[in-house]
Amino acid sequence: MKRSRINDILREGNDFIVSFGYVMPPFAYWSPEELRARNPKGIIEARLGWDITDYGQERFDELGLFLFTARNGRAADLARGKGMLYAEKIMITRKNQLSPMHRHVVKAEDIINRGGGTLVLELFMPDAEGNIDTQASVEVPSDGVVRELPPGGILKLEPGESITLLPGVWHGFWAEKADVLVGEVSTVNDDLTDNIFRDKIGRFSDIEEDEPPLHLLVSDYEKWLSS
Ligand SMILES: [Fe+2]
Repeated sequence: MKRSRINDILREGNDFIVSFGYVMPPFAYWSPEELRARNPKGIIEARLGWDITDYGQERFDELGLFLFTARNGRAADLARGKGMLYAEKIMITRKNQLSPMHRHVVKAEDIINRGGGTLVLELFMPDAEGNIDTQASVEVPSDGVVRELPPGGILKLEPGESITLLPGVWHGFWAEKADVLVGEVSTVNDDLTDNIFRDKIGRFSDIEEDEPPLHLLVSDYEKWLSS
């Protein structure tokens, strides 16, 4: 993706998020220069910030996701069972834009429709090896009530509704009727290692620099902030 397109998506996404009354933390709006000058380990090492991905496939409108990681705990805390074990993201799934089928090894996540259209999820249970089980019926908690679905079943979340996806549960999702503001409350998040995709795709965008970045993406930190 061109950087100019990333910048446009970032402006549009920010406008969409704030239109629901969600207020972004101040560091969201730091320039690349300010981020470099401040060099906050708590942001850079936890990989907080903007994340706009087309999964490396250059078809963002059909296959992509807009994310902002607002907080993220520590893997070491998770391993010892106390401390900062949690993370929070705010995301946008556009109408008919797919987040492709994947599972997590470590992370449990609640996916929340925080407003807009209908969020649609396709769900499978894992088999003994962790692969998609095409035979097993799916049981998932949704706002305190267990929902039962056939394998590959479709679950629709209207604004205000949420689902709990435990590690291993396969999920892909998209929006119907209108773009959706999506919340994620989860255990510690590691997007470098904890996303297993069904299909051979990447996790981040490949960026062609045609103008300066408005704000750095999390996936820019290593290249832009190392000196
Ligand atoms: Fe996920």
